[in-house]
Amino acid sequence: MLNGRSLGFIGGGNMAEAMIRGLLKARLLRPQEILASDVVPERLAYLEQTFGIRTSQDNAEVAGKADIALFAVKPQIMSPVLDGLLDVITGHKVLISIAAGISTRFIAEKFPGKVRVIRVMPNTPALVLEAASALCSGADALPEDLELAKRIFTAVGKVVVVEEVLMDAVTGLSGSGPAYIFLIIDALSDAGVKVGLSRREAQLLAAQTVLGAARMVLETHKHPGELKDMVTSPGGTAIAGLHTLEAGGLRTTLINAVEAATRRSMELGRKD
Ligand SMILES: NC(=O)c1ccc[n+]([C@@H]2O[C@H](COP(=O)([O-])OP(=O)(O)OC[C@H]3O[C@@H](n4cnc5c(N)ncnc54)[C@H](OP(=O)(O)O)[C@@H]3O)[C@@H](O)[C@H]2O)c1
Repeated sequence: MLNGRSLGFIGGGNMAEAMIRGLLKARLLRPQEILASDVVPERLAYLEQTFGIRTSQDNAEVAGKADIALFAVKPQIMSPVLDGLLDVITGHKVLISIAAGISTRFIAEKFPGKVRVIRVMPNTPALVLEAASALCSGADALPEDLELAKRIFTAVGKVVVVEEVLMDAVTGLSGSGPAYIFLIIDALSDAGVKVGLSRREAQLLAAQTVLGAARMVLETHKHPGELKDMVTSPGGTAIAGLHTLEAGGLRTTLINAVEAATRRSMELGRKD
């Protein structure tokens, strides 16, 4: 429970739906404590019917009624959306934004007084309640606001708190990261087919191997290098495969990829 506080989603798209699902599943909020606004009436009807939440086509109505406003619209429309809320945002509300590349300062400067802003970078596995989310506080957010946001995002996955300057790095690693892993799973699946497995078997084995390995890292708290050593016997199969991966520069390629995506995130941010 969020101490009886209500949460209003501004934008009822994919991320909002994933979060509503997670929050209800975790019993952090009751349906009547969740509101959502969107420009698409069918979308609102779907959310209302699926989750029993309250909806409105009017962003100001939702942001006005809710104690916490969670912005889940595309970054390019954040500015006009915020402009439409000047009359309803007060210092009592907590504003949480997941809009990629939009700084807490950009949001806070839209309003005359002090506003409490938390910025979050989640990733698409939020859709299956396995997001990796990084949170940071705006200048006037209270410590309790950050705690509140941590509770909200823990309902859809795992959270870390970072300084805002690191949000581009987060975008390069976990924000864009699902795309890297999908590529790796697809490549492993191709490899399985090459060595004689059916596509269906190969894909299941590849995806489950990624999932299982990730869970071992998270649940044993062992260093991934130690876990690798545990499956690498002298003169065995794993070391033969690992040698080939190192020769192909996998580690360096992944580091370069995260660095490139981080740089791109910085470039996109500067355009705003
Ligand atoms: N997806 C991710 O993995 C991910 C990760 C990190 C951060 N984010 C951030 O999360 C935010 C939402 O992403 P998403 O994937 O959920 O996008 P989405 O599915 O497009 O959801 C946005 C929703 O807001 C609606 N909308 C458009 N204009 C509006 C307005 N003026 N007032 C209220 N609602 C409006 C959209 O309607 P229309 O479809 O008609 O435009 C859509 O239903 C983005 O800022 C993105 O950067 C996403």
